[in-house]
Amino acid sequence: MEALEEDNKVLFLSCADSTNTWLKEQILKQALSCAAVFAGRQTAGRGRHGRHWESPEGGLYLSISFPFENQNFPPIFSCVAAGVAIAGILRREPYTADVFLKWPNDIFAGGRKLCGMLSELVTAPGIAPHVVIGIGLNVNAKVVTADSLYEAVSLFELKGHEFDVRLLAEQIVSEFRREWRNTVEFGTEQLISHWCALSETPGAHVEVLQDENRFAGYCVGVSDAFELIVENENGSRRFSAGDCRTLRQP
Ligand code: BTN
Repeated sequence: MEALEEDNKVLFLSCADSTNTWLKEQILKQALSCAAVFAGRQTAGRGRHGRHWESPEGGLYLSISFPFENQNFPPIFSCVAAGVAIAGILRREPYTADVFLKWPNDIFAGGRKLCGMLSELVTAPGIAPHVVIGIGLNVNAKVVTADSLYEAVSLFELKGHEFDVRLLAEQIVSEFRREWRNTVEFGTEQLISHWCALSETPGAHVEVLQDENRFAGYCVGVSDAFELIVENENGSRRFSAGDCRTLRQP
């Protein structure tokens, strides 16, 4: 825990292929453990489900790592903690953006995607398992390209001016470390309730996409394992993975 507190500093790179890949390599070489790395742009940014993450100059590309051992909850909760930390920061001064969390780990504003997260577990013989969370946040882009699933938006588009992307990265790292310490100390129940308070997914009509399958229904909430619970006329289903789209009420 003390190590987490000491490691709020961020390494700044002008360019990386992918900050997640870079940090994973450092962990495997045992050069870094509890660390954070930011890149000004990425040449091979990776999104969830093997998708590409467009990473031009002006965006925030940040990866945070820490050892993940002997926890009685799964690594997905690291992204839940990151989402709560980032949404909290973005709602406050100087950002004051009207953002919402969307299951499983996106941040949306005005129905468009502002931020995505990719968490990866690094394991190798002789090395403690580590989690790497990658955060991609559209900050100063004037025009953002839509990804294959969602329309995108940037903080610049929302607020009409640029922000200090490095300062934001430092704020995210320190707020995430704080949120994660609380989760390790007090458990996931409080984290889930913070997530629900910042999310529009519970109480919405949604469509969950898993490979080729789609399931539409009303989201009644998330389980204590952070599964999405969706009900329709055919019954109730729980999803532990997939993409989720918010639908207009039928
Ligand atoms: C998503 O598909 O929504 C997740 C996108 C995650 C992108 C970030 S950018 C920093 C880190 N490095 C990567 O290659 N991906 C993550």
